[in-house]
Amino acid sequence: MIARRDVPARLVERRELSPTCFSLLLATMERLPAEPGQFGMLSCGQGLDPLLRRPFSVAGVRPLGSGWGVELLVKEVGRGTAWLRRAPLGTILELLAPLGHGFNLEAAASTRAALVAGGIGLPPVLFAAERLAETGAPFDLFLGAATGDELLEIKRCRAAAGAVGGKLVLCTDDGSVGEPGFVTTALARRFAAGQRWERVLACGPDPMLQALARWSVTEGVVAELSLEEPMACGVGVCLGCVVELADGRRVASCKEGPVFEAARLAARWRP
Ligand SMILES: Cc1cc2nc3c(=O)[nH]c(=O)nc-3n(C[C@H](O)[C@H](O)[C@H](O)COP(=O)(O)OP(=O)(O)OC[C@H]3O[C@@H](n4cnc5c(N)ncnc54)[C@H](O)[C@@H]3O)c2cc1C
Ligand code: FES
Repeated sequence: MIARRDVPARLVERRELSPTCFSLLLATMERLPAEPGQFGMLSCGQGLDPLLRRPFSVAGVRPLGSGWGVELLVKEVGRGTAWLRRAPLGTILELLAPLGHGFNLEAAASTRAALVAGGIGLPPVLFAAERLAETGAPFDLFLGAATGDELLEIKRCRAAAGAVGGKLVLCTDDGSVGEPGFVTTALARRFAAGQRWERVLACGPDPMLQALARWSVTEGVVAELSLEEPMACGVGVCLGCVVELADGRRVASCKEGPVFEAARLAARWRP
């Protein structure tokens, strides 16, 4: 297990991605040893307000000048994320990372995988896609959002999938871009028509993950789902992020997850 550390991270770039989402590039002195699906707890204010850090999936780690950059993709939903959207470049943030267990990329690389992202579930999926593309492992990528202008980082998604001969399938609830309807429906339809994936890596809203869990267990496909249970500490202390497993155990998502195989989750994830 990679040791987590509290690292000072300077906010060096912010890009608007959609009406509600933006990316942040944080400069660190050392390379953050994060794997796709792992996350960090980021300070979202200066001083004590808000007191609690917020969890964000790592979307990428790359060389930056003489140091390293950590990329996050963020949706503005409340106080912390609103502050992050407006914090001046140069602000020093605190990032406790890497935390939790991510996707099993080795297993995904040994087969053809389907990567599925809904809305702001993209960050861990994009990180996984770009890592798989670097290793030449084939995959297809399903990217969905409520509306076309909330589809994030389409060019990067297309480049990553295209680099390994994979397809990018876009879906929107309102049908304004790509296929109308949910990504889960698009995936299941292709599977029913004979396309095959042995593993699925996914992150998105709970209803999307529940649909995938149900489908994957029925079809005998391994699905790794990155859950976003609300988290206060990120390190297994507050027990605010407890998830129930199929064997009846209740575990801290921040330590055993946030990525879980669908078959390990309690039936509430497969209603
Ligand atoms: C492991 C993990 C990884 C995450 N990765 C990302 C990411 O990469 N990008 C991103 O934008 N967000 C991510 N989130 C969600 C993010 O942590 C919350 O959106 C953020 O904490 C909200 O902070 P806030 O102060 O802006 O909102 P608050 O003022 O705290 O809350 C505003 C509203 O958002 C709701 N909310 C808070 N947390 C969550 C949550 N986890 N799921 C659903 N609703 C929530 C609250 O109930 C409330 O309605 C992740 C969460 C987890 C647990
Ligand atoms: S967030 Fe505190 S135990 Fe998981």
